[in-house]
Amino acid sequence: MPNTRDRWNSQVGFLFAAVGSAIGLGNIWRFSYMCHDNGGGAFLVPYFVALLAAGIPLMLLEYGFGHSRAGSAPLSFAKVGQKSEVLGWFMPVMVMFVIMLYYSVVIAWCLNYLVFSFDLSWGADTESFFYNNFLKLSEGPGQLGDVRLPILLSSLVVWFIIWIICFKKVSHGIERACKIFMPTLFLLTAVLVIWGLQLDGATEGLRYYLRPDWSRLKEWKVWNDAFGQMFFSLSLGFGIMIAYASYLPKRANIVGNAYLTSVINCGYSFFAGFAVFSVLGYMAQVSGVPIKDVVAGGPGLAFVVYPRAISLLPAFNSLFGVLFFLILVIAGISSGISIIEALGSAIQDKFSINRFRVITLLCVTGFLGSLLFCLQGGLYWLDILDHYSNNYGLVAAGFLECLIVGWAVKTHLLRKHINDSSTLKINRIWDFSIKVITPLILGSFLVGALYHEFAERYEGYAIKYLVIGAGWLLFLLAAAVFISRLPWRAGSLKREHSSRGGKLLT
Ligand code: PHE
Repeated sequence: MPNTRDRWNSQVGFLFAAVGSAIGLGNIWRFSYMCHDNGGGAFLVPYFVALLAAGIPLMLLEYGFGHSRAGSAPLSFAKVGQKSEVLGWFMPVMVMFVIMLYYSVVIAWCLNYLVFSFDLSWGADTESFFYNNFLKLSEGPGQLGDVRLPILLSSLVVWFIIWIICFKKVSHGIERACKIFMPTLFLLTAVLVIWGLQLDGATEGLRYYLRPDWSRLKEWKVWNDAFGQMFFSLSLGFGIMIAYASYLPKRANIVGNAYLTSVINCGYSFFAGFAVFSVLGYMAQVSGVPIKDVVAGGPGLAFVVYPRAISLLPAFNSLFGVLFFLILVIAGISSGISIIEALGSAIQDKFSINRFRVITLLCVTGFLGSLLFCLQGGLYWLDILDHYSNNYGLVAAGFLECLIVGWAVKTHLLRKHINDSSTLKINRIWDFSIKVITPLILGSFLVGALYHEFAERYEGYAIKYLVIGAGWLLFLLAAAVFISRLPWRAGSLKREHSSRGGKLLT
C-alpha cells in the first residue's frame, strides 16, 4: 500500500487546529480561577516558568517527534521500541476514556446554558438552580441516581457534531472546522472583553484578578497548579500534538509553530480572564458584596457565578449569555475533536481500519461512556477522575516522554530534524531541558502528588471511590499494554519507517 498519510492543506490550517486543541474550556474558566486562587497576578510567575520549563520544550518535542516519525503517538513510539509503544497508547486512551468523557458533558452543560440564556431561566438563585434543578446532584459518588435527560440530549448533540467534523479526512473536516471556529472564537472573545471592560466596577474586578500576592509563591501547590494547568491547557501528554504534527509537510516550521501555539494559547487565557473578572467586578458592585465573596472556583464560576452576573447586566443580558456560552461550546468542541483524531489516527495506523468506521466507533463509545456524567452523581466522578488524570496521568506521560525521547532517542538528532524543517532554530538548551530539567520538575511533582495522596484523602471522598478512580486509570494502562502487544497490520510499521527521516530511528 502506498503511503497515504493525510496532509494539512496549509500551515495556517495546522496552526488553527493545534491552537483549537489547546484553547478549550480550560482556558476560560479554569485559568481565571487558578489565577485568582493562587495569588492573582503572582500566579503569572510560576505560569510563565511552566511555559518555559515544560510547555515550550515539550511542545517542540511532540511536534518534532510526530513530524520526524510521521505517525500517531503509538506509531511514533513504536519506532523507538515496543515498550515505548505502551506510552504512545496510554496517552490518547487515557485522555479519551477519562478526560474526554466528562469534558464532552461539560460542553453539553454549556449548550444547555446557552439555551437557558434566552430567557435567563436560571432565575435569581443560580446556585440552587445549577445543583438542584439542573444537575439534581445526589448525595455522593455512591448514589449515581437517574440520567438527566436535558444533559443527555445535549451530550448527544455534542458527540454528533464531533462525529460530523471528524469522520472526514483531516484536511476536510478538522482543518476546515478550525479555520472557521478559531477566528470566530477570537472575535467573540474580543467582543466579550470590550463589553466587560465598559461595565462599572470592571477595574475593581481586574485589580482582584491580577493583584499579586507574592507570599503565595512559597507554596508547593501554587507551582503544582501552574504546571498542571500548563499541561492541560497546551494538550501536552495527550498524544494530540504528535498526531497533528504527523500531517505536516516536510518543511513545517516546527519551531515557529511550537512557539506560536504556546504563546497564543497562554495569551488567550490571560485575555479571557479580563472578560471573566470585569463582569465579576461589576457584579460585586451592583450587589454591594465584596468581590472575594462573589467568586467561586471550579464549575461554580461558569455555571453559578457567571449566570448570576449575566442576569444583573444592565442590558442585552440574553445576548451576553449566548455569547459567553457559545464561546465555551466552540472552544470545547475544537479541543474535543483533537482527541478523537489522536486516538482515531492511532487505531488506523496500527490496524489499518477504515477511518469512517474508527471515528464512528469512537464517537459512539464516547457518547456511551459520557452517560456516567449525565447521571445525578456524575459531578463527583468528574471530580475524582479529573484529579487522577491531571495530577498523575498527564504528568507521568510528560515525564516518560522526556525520558524516552531524551535518553533512548538522541535529542541532538531530533533537534537537527526540527531545525532542518524550520526557519527559527533551537540550540542545546532544549536538549538539556528535555533530558534533565523538565523530567526533574515533573518527577518531583509526581512524588509530591503521591505524598499528598497518602497524607490526606482527596476532598474527603471514601477510600473505595478513590480506589475505583485510580483503578480505572490503571486499567487503561493495562489496556495500553495489551494493545501494544498486538501485531502491527502487515507492513504498516515498516512502511512508515521509511516515510520521513528514516535515519533518525534508533
Ligand atoms: N487543552 C484543552 C483545554 O484547555 C484540554 C483538552 C484537549 C481536553 C483535548 C480534551 C481534549 O481545555
